[in-house]
Amino acid sequence: MLTQLSLFRMSEKEISYSQLLKKSQRILQEAADREEAMQHICTLLLREIPHFDWVGFYLVDPLAEKQLILGPYAGEPTEHTRIAFGQGICGQAADTKEVFISQDVSAESNYLSCSPDVQSEIVVPILKGEELIGEIDIDSNQRNAITEQDRELLVALCEELAELF
Ligand code: SME
Repeated sequence: MLTQLSLFRMSEKEISYSQLLKKSQRILQEAADREEAMQHICTLLLREIPHFDWVGFYLVDPLAEKQLILGPYAGEPTEHTRIAFGQGICGQAADTKEVFISQDVSAESNYLSCSPDVQSEIVVPILKGEELIGEIDIDSNQRNAITEQDRELLVALCEELAELF
């Protein structure tokens, strides 16, 4: 446990969250369209944050009642390409429009598993005013992996992303 903790801290030190936010902002300015921006952000976060193992967007389906559809993502394909509000961590975050962090997904009673390797997850809503546009969903294969710095980065990123909608 101590070894795990110190390894975790070592890798945390190597992440420059301010650089990551700047890189994401550059992507938002330079991408040809929002699909491309979201795709590049997924790739960036998956590459730069060692405890992120799947990064993707779910967007509110404008043609369906309270449904999320899978948008750009980086990582293994998921069977959860459509999620109803209220279902799983993504659906619950869609209902509340609030950040949902699970540091141990095995303890969740309302959870949709994408891979047996996943142990923790964060979902951050993208809001334009009061309206839910979508969310960013991140899985980690480590328990207790989601940090306050992750949350802050993702909240800032989602605020900027909302401007593209
Ligand atoms: N675990 C999510 C489903 C999406 S996958 O993680 C890609 C959930 O419980 O809503």
